[in-house]
Amino acid sequence: MGVKTKPCFWLFVLLWLFVYHRTCFSIGGDTISVGRSLSGNQTLVSQNGIFELGFFRPGTSHNIYLGIWHRNFENKTTVWVANRESPSNDPESSKLEFLSDGNLVLLKNLTETVWSTALASSIPNTTKTEAVILDDGNFVIRDGSNPSTIYWQSFDYPTDTWLPGAKLGINKHTGKVQRLISWKNSEDPAPGMFSVGVDTNGRGQFFIEWNRSHRFWSSGEWNGQIFSLVPEMRLNYLFNYSYVLNENESYFTYSLYNTSFLSRYMIDVSGQIKQFIWWKGRPLSWFPFWFEPKDQADVYGLCGVFGVFHNSSSNCDCLKGFKPLVQNDWSSGCVRKSPLKCQNKSSVGKEDGFLKMSDLALPANSKTYQKVSAGRCRLDCIEKCSCMAYTYNNYNGCSLWEGDLINLRQSGGADGRAGAEIYIRLAASEPELQNGNGSTRTAMVVYI
Ligand SMILES: *[C@@H]1O[C@H](CO)[C@@H](O)[C@H](O)[C@H]1NC(C)=O
Ligand SMILES: *[C@@H]1O[C@H](CO)[C@@H](O)[C@H](O)[C@H]1NC(C)=O
Ligand SMILES: *[C@@H]1O[C@H](CO)[C@@H](O)[C@H](O)[C@H]1NC(C)=O
Ligand SMILES: *[C@@H]1O[C@H](CO)[C@@H](O)[C@H](O)[C@H]1NC(C)=O
Ligand SMILES: *[C@@H]1O[C@H](CO)[C@@H](O)[C@H](O)[C@H]1NC(C)=O
Ligand SMILES: *[C@@H]1O[C@H](CO)[C@@H](O)[C@H](O)[C@H]1NC(C)=O
Ligand SMILES: *[C@@H]1O[C@H](CO)[C@@H](O)[C@H](O)[C@H]1NC(C)=O
Ligand SMILES: *[C@@H]1O[C@H](CO)[C@@H](O)[C@H](O)[C@H]1NC(C)=O
Ligand SMILES: *[C@@H]1O[C@H](CO)[C@@H](O)[C@H](O)[C@H]1NC(C)=O
Ligand SMILES: *[C@@H]1O[C@H](CO)[C@@H](O)[C@H](O)[C@H]1NC(C)=O
Ligand SMILES: *[C@@H]1O[C@H](CO)[C@@H](O)[C@H](O)[C@H]1NC(C)=O
Repeated sequence: MGVKTKPCFWLFVLLWLFVYHRTCFSIGGDTISVGRSLSGNQTLVSQNGIFELGFFRPGTSHNIYLGIWHRNFENKTTVWVANRESPSNDPESSKLEFLSDGNLVLLKNLTETVWSTALASSIPNTTKTEAVILDDGNFVIRDGSNPSTIYWQSFDYPTDTWLPGAKLGINKHTGKVQRLISWKNSEDPAPGMFSVGVDTNGRGQFFIEWNRSHRFWSSGEWNGQIFSLVPEMRLNYLFNYSYVLNENESYFTYSLYNTSFLSRYMIDVSGQIKQFIWWKGRPLSWFPFWFEPKDQADVYGLCGVFGVFHNSSSNCDCLKGFKPLVQNDWSSGCVRKSPLKCQNKSSVGKEDGFLKMSDLALPANSKTYQKVSAGRCRLDCIEKCSCMAYTYNNYNGCSLWEGDLINLRQSGGADGRAGAEIYIRLAASEPELQNGNGSTRTAMVVYI
């Protein structure tokens, strides 16, 4: 985008000056002062032109967000979003306003508040309060006559990106945790399933979680130089990481030794933490520097509930008999095409059946009963409406899975569990069951 705009640049400047003088907008570079507002295409630009704050639309979405991005890069990469859960939709009526009590509010339809800095205590009205976008990407509300007095800062509310100078950890007094939370999908900055947090027990480490609870990657403990499970950090000569522990807070932060470099870490919608760098003299595009987990197959729940990860193609897909809840958004997972009979007491027709699959790896959270027959195992599953799948073999006996199935993987035989025959519960009307692959009640009755 940046490449082709040059010939229009002076025309743009003239137009802008015209608009500027006509309407007397107070967009003085990097600062917005009390009583002023930002709207439409107006932006704030940090002093050295590194960061820009304004309204944006992600991809083809119609939603409008207030965000911060690195300026001038070929593709806009947003590092912070204010109203990630409450978008606006009309650029003309979206406005960031600086109230006299020192709060910033984001208005949609000119009057409806969709986001606010919600300062706990009001700022003394004797101070010259201002909001400034800084060259490190931090947006701060501070005392203009004493800039080290900061009332609010965007660094305390990270979205999916960790910039040099920002903290990730915990404030011991307020209990407030600073962690990264992925976007829901590439066009929706609402909080997604993946997050990166800091474990402050022991010597401190990073971890990635699915649904804020299931931890599937960890950096290992910090030894002052490297994280124990990230040995490649021994070669680090670019970044100065530190772990700060005091009576008020525990956090990791980092800086760059060489100011010719820019860096950003982000938790991607793919469930991976990724670091990108850029250095002066290069085209304005990011260089992928490091990421974890290296193998997509190690990302827990990547394909959502009832979704299947195909390791050979690195793609998500739904289990047979299921369809995506939202197209192109695996975090929402898959839903049944036909409801189970057991879920609808008034439904008529045949009992639910089972579809046999032989190269599917299921998660480990099954209930296992050793001393039952294959027929009893199937019957135990059919009798509990929450039972979604079972498997039986002579060695382990009977295993039942209850509730949503998550983290299913089709590994084409490479996985340890592959080869086990797994039976997935489906409505009898599912075409998948009509071809003799699954079996219905008749087959089951034999075992009673
Ligand atoms: C903002 O910029 C876009 C494209 O540059 C233009 O189409 C739109 O009219 C502008 N909106 C305002 C409110 O200036
Ligand atoms: C905007 O506000 C006006 C008046 O307050 C109201 O009539 C209108 O329905 C609102 N529009 C939207 C899109 O909410
Ligand atoms: C500050 O607040 C006090 C009390 O609310 C008011 O009397 C005074 O005029 C205010 N000063 C300014 C500069 O707004
Ligand atoms: C995520 O966790 C919440 C509660 O912590 C739970 O209600 C929800 O069902 C979980 N989501 C999925 C997809 O399992
Ligand atoms: C690295 O960061 C720490 C903490 O911010 C600082 O005290 C130290 O001087 C930095 N080291 C170098 C070499 O810049
Ligand atoms: C912890 O907070 C107290 C009160 O705000 C402050 O006086 C003290 O200097 C802080 N300690 C550190 C190490 O920042
Ligand atoms: C910073 O990096 C640039 C680009 O690699 C290099 O030219 C410059 O010498 C480095 N500066 C320092 C102080 O190391
Ligand atoms: C910018 O985005 C376009 C379209 O998505 C893509 O083709 C291109 O490779 C991107 N450029 C960089 C440097 O990432
Ligand atoms: C997934 O596939 C990659 C290569 O495509 C392979 O290196 C990896 O071991 C596979 N993982 C599993 C769990 O099968
Ligand atoms: C339950 O089954 C009845 C009869 O087949 C059907 O009319 C009804 O829509 C079903 N209800 C749900 C919630 O699927
Ligand atoms: C079972 O399903 C598989 C894959 O959908 C198919 O190739 C096979 O022919 C089916 N078996 C029968 C007996 O229909």
